[in-house]
Amino acid sequence: MIPLEAKHEARRNTYWMNAARAHDPTLHLHCVHVSELCACFSAFLNLPLDQQTALKRSGLLHDIGKLKLPAAILQKPSPLTPEETTIVQAHTYLGYEMLLENGETDELLLTTTRDHHERLDGSGYPRQLTAPEISAAVRIVTLCDVFAAMTEPRPYVAAMKWDEALATMAKMRNRLDHDLLAGFATMMTALHAPKKRFGPLGNRLRKKKT
Ligand SMILES: [Fe+2]
Ligand SMILES: [Fe+2]
Repeated sequence: MIPLEAKHEARRNTYWMNAARAHDPTLHLHCVHVSELCACFSAFLNLPLDQQTALKRSGLLHDIGKLKLPAAILQKPSPLTPEETTIVQAHTYLGYEMLLENGETDELLLTTTRDHHERLDGSGYPRQLTAPEISAAVRIVTLCDVFAAMTEPRPYVAAMKWDEALATMAKMRNRLDHDLLAGFATMMTALHAPKKRFGPLGNRLRKKKT
């Protein structure tokens, strides 16, 4: 039986994702992508199940503040002006406030939504936090968000292949969590490894036959 709270969360997730799809279909796809990456990575890290669930939901809602931005800016087919960049960067606080206003109290969800563009060297936004102030949950959502953003097609940037994205992220090691990035790369490499159809025993049997 699904707990009552989980049913409520599922309903709220559906509400937010319907709003995202209506506002900007690319935003909706990005949210689902980050959510699935968070689910995979938190399972790979063997985190407790409640944290896996919370991180999956945080990935889904991390960019929800973009609902308050003009779709014309989100879908602009050319690089943003400095003024437009400032407007887009407001999505972190806007999302945090929207979730609070709608009765969300989960601290992990609220902090990941507000802080997922912070960077360990203090070069992020909105508060220029540094490593000691950035939680593990935020670091996980940030990695998944950066990887998703690089591997999704954008109006003016071609999508990178998964290994190109990892190579680019490796150059951001002073901004992203070094140990988590190594784990994320291991997981991605395993996910993209060619499938061994027969396994060691199957391969031995095949050799005997020939
Ligand atoms: Fe974001
Ligand atoms: Fe994002």
